Amino acid sequence: MSLLLFFLCFYPLFLHAANSITQNESIKDGSTLVSDGLKFEMGFFSLNDSSSRYVGIWYHNVTSAYVWVANREKPIKNREGSITIKNDGNLVVIDGENNEIWSNREVGKDIWQSFEDPTDTYLPGMKVPASGGNGIGKDATFCSWKSENDPSFGNYSMSVDSEASPQIVIKEGEKRRWRSGYWDGRVFSGVPNMTGSYLFGFRLNTDDKGERYFVYEALNTTDKIRFLISYDGFEKQFRWNENEKKWNVLQSEPFKKCEFYNSCGSFAVCDDSDSSLCKCIKGFEPRDMNGWKNGNWSKGCKRMTPLKSERSSNSSGGEDGFLVQRDLKLPDFAHLVNAVDCEGNCLKNSSCTAYANTIGIGCMVWFGELVDFQRLENYGNTLNIRLADSDLGDGGKKTKIGIILGVVGGLICLGIFVWLLWRFKRKLKVSSTSTSNINGEPSKSPNLLLSAELSGPVGLSPQGSPLNNAEFFNFSIIVIATNNFSEENKLGQGGFGPVYKGKLPGGVEIAVKRLSRQSNQGSDEFKNEMMLIAKLQHRNLVRLLGCSVEGEEKLLVYEYMPNKSLDRFLFDPVKQTILDCTKRFEIIEGIARGLLYLHRDSRLRIIHRDLKASNILLDENMNPKISDFGLARIFGGNQNEENTARVVGTYGYMSPEYAMEGLFSVKSDVYSFGVLLLEILSGRKNTSFRDSYDPSLIGYAWRLWNEERVMELLDPSIRDSSPKSKALRCIHIGMLCVQDSASNRPNMSSVVLMLESEATALPLPVKPLLTSMRRYDYTDEFNTEPFDSTVDLTVTGR
Ligand SMILES: *[C@@H]1O[C@H](CO)[C@@H](O)[C@H](O)[C@H]1NC(C)=O
Ligand SMILES: *[C@@H]1O[C@H](CO)[C@@H](O)[C@H](O)[C@H]1NC(C)=O
Ligand SMILES: *[C@@H]1O[C@H](CO)[C@@H](O)[C@H](O)[C@H]1NC(C)=O
Ligand SMILES: *[C@@H]1O[C@H](CO)[C@@H](O)[C@H](O)[C@H]1NC(C)=O
Ligand SMILES: *[C@@H]1O[C@H](CO)[C@@H](O)[C@H](O)[C@H]1NC(C)=O
Ligand SMILES: *[C@@H]1O[C@H](CO)[C@@H](O)[C@H](O)[C@H]1NC(C)=O
Ligand SMILES: *[C@@H]1O[C@H](CO)[C@@H](O)[C@H](O)[C@H]1NC(C)=O
Ligand SMILES: *[C@@H]1O[C@H](CO)[C@@H](O)[C@H](O)[C@H]1NC(C)=O
Ligand SMILES: *[C@@H]1O[C@H](CO)[C@@H](O)[C@H](O)[C@H]1NC(C)=O
Repeated sequence: MSLLLFFLCFYPLFLHAANSITQNESIKDGSTLVSDGLKFEMGFFSLNDSSSRYVGIWYHNVTSAYVWVANREKPIKNREGSITIKNDGNLVVIDGENNEIWSNREVGKDIWQSFEDPTDTYLPGMKVPASGGNGIGKDATFCSWKSENDPSFGNYSMSVDSEASPQIVIKEGEKRRWRSGYWDGRVFSGVPNMTGSYLFGFRLNTDDKGERYFVYEALNTTDKIRFLISYDGFEKQFRWNENEKKWNVLQSEPFKKCEFYNSCGSFAVCDDSDSSLCKCIKGFEPRDMNGWKNGNWSKGCKRMTPLKSERSSNSSGGEDGFLVQRDLKLPDFAHLVNAVDCEGNCLKNSSCTAYANTIGIGCMVWFGELVDFQRLENYGNTLNIRLADSDLGDGGKKTKIGIILGVVGGLICLGIFVWLLWRFKRKLKVSSTSTSNINGEPSKSPNLLLSAELSGPVGLSPQGSPLNNAEFFNFSIIVIATNNFSEENKLGQGGFGPVYKGKLPGGVEIAVKRLSRQSNQGSDEFKNEMMLIAKLQHRNLVRLLGCSVEGEEKLLVYEYMPNKSLDRFLFDPVKQTILDCTKRFEIIEGIARGLLYLHRDSRLRIIHRDLKASNILLDENMNPKISDFGLARIFGGNQNEENTARVVGTYGYMSPEYAMEGLFSVKSDVYSFGVLLLEILSGRKNTSFRDSYDPSLIGYAWRLWNEERVMELLDPSIRDSSPKSKALRCIHIGMLCVQDSASNRPNMSSVVLMLESEATALPLPVKPLLTSMRRYDYTDEFNTEPFDSTVDLTVTGR
């Protein structure tokens, strides 16, 4: 029997001789195994010249960091030891007298990995169970070394606490020392400056047994990165600097005073930026006033007025209420509850002291004392703390004040709304907009998902066009091909000009867009721009074959798409049945991938700015292709030049910030994508709500979402055949995309990942007030030049 050892998941094969051992073979002290890919090395080592020998793994050529140690408690005192595989298949470390010093103790398992039995180090790719006690395999607890030069078990441990939403906890013995704050689907909410997307950084995944685990992917997989619970109790992240030959510390926790566990005791907020550090929450007072004054916070604070349930029945006072505290690292020991009405859920249990409804986590409630919470400027969450009504400050008049506030608030909202509307109209007239790019994606994130699609030839035109690269077409050839732009050849009228069908001399069919308005660019600039855009190739983008310029005439030549645009199918009562649920999901995914490609292409990073159903063309297999991408770039001119940019787009698909402020970003495309997604699933036009109860498709979707009737949003023709979980997930993603705040919307890489992986947890959407409450003013749509949404057929066939 030859047993290959899987030391490390990602570099699994320690091949014969150099990088593997098999049964009955051994590695003597002095020689090492090197993993395939030369990433890791395994062998004997000693620390600071002591005679004690340990078996461990380290990064190849970097002997200063031992990422795993086998016999951490039992060093071999001489150089006679060896590593071998016993008859039962277990890996053992033996000393010179053949005594077993260490064994992996996993009898009967096919594969054992050092990853499942970590010491003090976490490496990218390792899976850390996060299922609340009964994780996969062994409990993955990382235990610190005793000292810098002694790998035996130290005082500190680091593990995942999965009681509510998982968090990382460092303990000294049983006592908590630091915690990361709850995982919110993207980051650990209490770790300062933590970044991550669904493509790199930490992720919470679910394996095929339903067990959850964390895994970390480095931004650059060639980086040597390790996380460690240090002997002195700090969670540290290191990256190897090859030039300086040293490990740089990227992050170390706990760092500031407030990050040490429960620095202020119960019911007190810790604030590093405040000179007094600890403050009781409103409605609470120090338990030990003297100690508190002298900076001994350990006793914490106590409630001043008992809650209603604790007061004797004949006492006065009304119902308990909640004090809203923003920007907090939420207290420890939350309970996750599955409730839409989080506040009500908390109120009905007398021992509930606080609740939080957090994006990416859901409803959490706390019972009893609130411990370890901290003010986090800019990145904290909101906590609602239960108080007796008299401590809330407005006594029993809460409801009355609520009504007054409601009325006043309503008036203010109305005012703002009118003002925005006025601004919006003004914007359209002036057509001059600021063009800051808000909330762009991190530009350096690796394109893990799409790497396969980005390379290699894609999107050959249906007729097998001989045109491999974009060309400059002779204007006269186009004139002949389109029969001098004759009416019969006209396919439709798009936002940027009419589109004609043409046939090149070789028989290749093309679609020609005749740009009606002068762009602000000269011919050379235009050609350069076109060449750049023509290089964008993706199977979900309509292929641009070339362009033609003659005087003021500017033409774009596209592959001809024999099928019609998506809106022709989607909103046609007969044809919409052709699009079954599978097809619709495919179309959504295809559009998402095409859009992600536009957003992420490192050279251009195109923002489409006019994504809508009529700009999605379908090929002969009904695969979606985005058209008209890059036109906003030409017509918008230089995106840094304010005066040349104009609001292009179609009402109803435009994000609030774009429609009202002219601010566009990848997130405004995400918004349009969200609208499109809802249209595809519902089979209803966003603008078809003119006379209905709901003001818009988004408002309709939101109402159904709130009433937990989301399945009713689906087009009746696909409602019964759609897999429920997939449909719900899809709508959920749509709701996330149409949120008012651009920063709340996911970026396209997240959208693609959320669409493709059932495992990714979805945050809860915030109610889109601006778009779900207001009714569109349809006259806008027809009065203004760029908004000819009804007839934008672009490159559509008949
Ligand atoms: C290892 O040694 C044992 C006894 O010494 C023998 O039975 C077994 O076949 C050997 N295994 C291999 C793979 O050589
Ligand atoms: C290694 O040992 C030397 C003397 O034995 C000591 O001075 C030095 O501090 C030790 N290094 C570390 C990192 O502990
Ligand atoms: C390891 O170090 C040696 C000498 O310092 C060098 O020759 C070799 O290329 C290095 N190997 C790797 C994989 O970096
Ligand atoms: C976090 O970011 C802020 C602002 O970007 C910076 O001032 C601060 O030093 C950072 N903190 C850490 C721990 O890196
Ligand atoms: C990853 O790091 C290596 C070496 O540090 C560098 O050469 C390479 O360009 C990096 N890759 C990316 C995608 O940043
Ligand atoms: C570990 O705990 C022991 C006993 O409390 C203490 O003496 C020792 O200094 C601690 N070690 C570290 C590294 O904190
Ligand atoms: C703070 O007070 C507690 C009890 O009130 C006491 O046990 C502790 O020693 C005090 N800490 C300091 C630093 O004085
Ligand atoms: C409640 O009523 C009881 C008897 O009616 C009385 O003894 C007690 O003082 C009252 N408590 C308060 C807080 O008024
Ligand atoms: C309140 O919640 C706690 C913890 O879940 C539970 O033990 C208790 O029974 C609940 N009390 C009521 C009145 O529901």
